[in-house]
Parts: sequence; C-alpha cells; structure tokens
Amino acid sequence: MGAGISYSRVGTMKSNLWNRKHLLSMRDIGRGEILSILETAASFREVNHRDIKKVPTLRGKTIINLFYENSTRTRTSFELAGKRMSADVINMSVASSSVKKGETLIDTLATLQAMNPDVVVVRHSESGAQEFLARNLNAAIINAGDGRHAHPTQALLDILTIHDHLPIMGREDFQGLKVAICGDVLHSRVARSNAQGLATMGAEVRFVGPPTLIPAKVEEAFNVKVYHQMDEGIQGVDVVMMLRLQQERMAKAYIPSIREYFHYWGLTRKRLALAADTAIVMHPGPMNRGVEIASEVADDLERSVILEQVANGLAIRMAVLYRLCTPQSRS
Ligand code: CP
Repeated sequence: MGAGISYSRVGTMKSNLWNRKHLLSMRDIGRGEILSILETAASFREVNHRDIKKVPTLRGKTIINLFYENSTRTRTSFELAGKRMSADVINMSVASSSVKKGETLIDTLATLQAMNPDVVVVRHSESGAQEFLARNLNAAIINAGDGRHAHPTQALLDILTIHDHLPIMGREDFQGLKVAICGDVLHSRVARSNAQGLATMGAEVRFVGPPTLIPAKVEEAFNVKVYHQMDEGIQGVDVVMMLRLQQERMAKAYIPSIREYFHYWGLTRKRLALAADTAIVMHPGPMNRGVEIASEVADDLERSVILEQVANGLAIRMAVLYRLCTPQSRS
C-alpha cells in the first residue's frame, strides 16, 4: 500500500479540484476535494521514504505554526511537512511569545501577517478562533484544531488511512462502510471532523459512548447513529476509532471512575472480536492506555493502524500546505 495507489476507484478524480484559500473544517469539503487531497498526499508519501527526504516544491514560501494548545503529532508533522518541501518554517512558542504579555489573538496574527507568511497553521482552545482569523486577516489559515469544533487535517489523514485498507476489507469504496467513533465524542473535534468527512465519502458513521459524553441532537447535526452500549455500537463495524478521554476539558464529573469507564467503554481484544474480522483500530493520539484502549489492542499491528495514521498525517499536511501555498495548484 502507499504511493502509487489508485484513487480513481473511489470516485472520479480531478487532481486540481481544490480551490480554497483556507482549510478551516470538513463541513463543506466535497468528495472530489477530499479525493484530490488524497491523491496529492499519495504522491508526497514517496518523498518520505527516500534517502534524501527533501523536495524544492515550496522553496521561498513561509509557514508559521502558532499553537496555543499542546500538540505532538500535528505540530511536528506540519513542521516536517514544510521543511521536507523546502519552505521556511517558523514555530512560534506561545509560552515564550508576547501572548504572555496580554497580546490578543488577532493582534498576534496581524503582527505575524505583517511579515507576509504564505500560511499560518493555528491550534486554539476556542472553537471558531480560526474562522474569525480567516474573516479578518489576509493570510491563508489552516485549522490545526479549535476547541471541540474541528480538526480537518486529522480527518483527512484518517480518511487516507481507511482508504489504504479498503482492499483488505473487500471494499471498492467508502459506500456503506461502517465506522464506529467511540468514547468521549462530546469534547472531540476529531469525532466531528471525521463524521463530516466520512459521511461525505459515503460511510455510515456511529457515535458510541455514554450519554454524558455524546452531544445532544447529534444524529441530525452530523447524520450519525448513536449507541450507548459499546458492544452493540461496534458490532460488525469495519473501523473502530477510539477517542481520548479528554479529562482536561472536563469541569464536572462525566464518568463515575476511570476503572468503570475502561470496564464499559475500553477497547479490549475480547470486545474487538465483535467488530468485523477485517476491522481496523484507529486512535488520533495521544492514547490513554488502560482508559479508552488496552495495550493488547493498541500494539497489535494486525489490527491497529495508529502509527500508519501518524505517517499519513505527514503526507496529508504536505498536500494541504502545497495546495494552500501555491495558488496555481488550486486553479
Ligand atoms: N491527533 C492530534 O491532534 O494529536 P496532537 O494533539 O499530538 O497534535
């Protein structure tokens, strides 16, 4: 699997079908656009396996990474993606910036914009922060996660990872593919962006979790089925996507105890046997072992594609940066 894979089997392709200045959410991204990004990512994947992992594609372009929340995977993969394409990449550490002296988000971005970057990658704890910035500033903005709202590059890398495994599942495309997104859906931007992106691709998405951790009226808003029993929710599914229990966003008690949560909602090998025989296990990371997922499942490379998600994250971010930094690639 990997570079060279044909994307035509999941839909009619137009490799230039991407005409956006910003990437803010998956809400209105069409199937053709998603396929177009997957195709571009597949072509960049090859670069990451070379001896010399560098191409001149974005020479002379400037990318600023501005992360107001912690990140390992997203921040490093955006940095590496830019550097592998020869862009100048600046990582602004909020902890040592003038944000700590009280500078507002928009003043910070306006200051960075005066340096004329091509793209600013932003992670922020407030839902909608990047949409506000995109409306008020000229720089191209990539949403690297905002509150519980959206994480579009995570959804794209997850769709790419699932796409890689369609042949093993005996499937031609995403039509009717059953995906269970399990656990702390309430606080998860990953769940929301994946539900939107996967539904666009034709998958049947389930949200599986305790009533306290599933948002109200979510069926209509996200076109998903809701299950409040883990064993029922993952029955026969092709993909089990586990979510991190985001205890740092919990101001009140949403679960009785970690021990009880793992008992009822943790993914164990025994529980995974309820899914399809060819089902894959995904997790956006960081994982809480023994909370939402057992190590015996997380480390089982026959079923777990968690590290493939990380590798695909790099390729997807290269593709997105390429499309946003080079307007000629979008027309
Ligand atoms: N999946 C994800 O967004 O991970 P990080 O918080 O480490 O970037």
